[in-house]
Amino acid sequence: MFSLVYKSIAKPSFKQEAIQEMLELARIYNNSQGITGCLLYYEGIFIQYLEGNQIKVLKLFDKIKEDLRHTQVRLLSHSEVEQREFKEWDMAFENCDGENEHMSFLKLFANDYTEEESIFWGRTSKVTFWKEVSKLINKKSPLKSN
Ligand SMILES: Cc1cc2nc3c(=O)[nH]c(=O)nc-3n(C[C@H](O)[C@H](O)[C@H](O)COP(=O)(O)O)c2cc1C
Repeated sequence: MFSLVYKSIAKPSFKQEAIQEMLELARIYNNSQGITGCLLYYEGIFIQYLEGNQIKVLKLFDKIKEDLRHTQVRLLSHSEVEQREFKEWDMAFENCDGENEHMSFLKLFANDYTEEESIFWGRTSKVTFWKEVSKLINKKSPLKSN
């Protein structure tokens, strides 16, 4: 199993409604390719975690990089992983802006995640970060697969 994390900057015209529409299509595609993951939106920044077959994930990442709805797509990490963190989710989504009780403590970490080569972010803490996100999302919607 392969996982990849990137961050990007949302175009100001790419708003919540349009993001939801994009997600509907993304989930259909991801489901057909056995790709799961999570997209976080935080103050105009996307951080996405993709997991699945390496070739399929990289093929999707190539498409995402070309997408004009965001810019400055930058790979943050990639690695072999033993198991999925988001196995119930064709693509979970969390908007961390505004009043979001579930994610409020993660905001702090999301902020750090966006820092350039932060020393704080060794591999272990990145893994911990996504495990925490997955726990929160599953707690929030335990029976919902998307
Ligand atoms: C932030 C962001 C995340 C995206 N995540 C996915 C995704 O997980 N799966 C997906 O199929 N498309 C995703 N897309 C959309 C792709 O960039 C692309 O539009 C889609 O794969 C359709 O590509 P195609 O028309 O070349 O087939 C994402 C786009 C953005 C801007």
